[in-house]
Amino acid sequence: MRVLILFFGGLFASLVFAKATSELDPTTRSEISERIAPVGSVCLASEECASAVKAVANASSGPRTGDAIYGQYCVACHAVGLLGAPIKDDSAAWLAAEKKAGGFSNLLTNAINGIRSMPAKGTCMDCSDEEISISIQYMSGLKP
Ligand code: HEC
Repeated sequence: MRVLILFFGGLFASLVFAKATSELDPTTRSEISERIAPVGSVCLASEECASAVKAVANASSGPRTGDAIYGQYCVACHAVGLLGAPIKDDSAAWLAAEKKAGGFSNLLTNAINGIRSMPAKGTCMDCSDEEISISIQYMSGLKP
């Protein structure tokens, strides 16, 4: 009797164990590896994954506002007229700069490439041309 109990007990235990391991089918396995995967990954600027991350960030956020870009980059010089920069909301100075450049599109080109003491893209190196245009409009009140 004791032998029988041991025999069936062992059989039962091995069945349960077999069931438990067979439940780890491929879906479960991939779910598990997904759950234990690291939360983030580090990319160097030169790696492909970094540009992919940047593309996603840009695509999801769209162009930043003139206010945001001005506040982060242009304000350093264009708030006080550092090095002779036209001051924000000084429409006369901006009109004169636009006239001197020969129109808004030239003004934009100058801001993108840099001109005299004005650094290229106003130091916002990840700004799109559109974002530079938006920030010029924000600072000057000029329209393209
Ligand atoms: C390091 C200081 C500095 C920063 C930062 C800066 N600017 Fe300027 N910017 C200048 C100076 C100085 C001038 C005047 C250049 C001149 O006419 O000699 C200028 C001129 C300009 C002009 C007129 C160009 C022309 O053709 O006369 C535009 C447009 C302009 N900046 C846009 C921007 C924008 C947009 C930003 C921010 C994204 C920015 N700037 C950030 C210094 C700066």
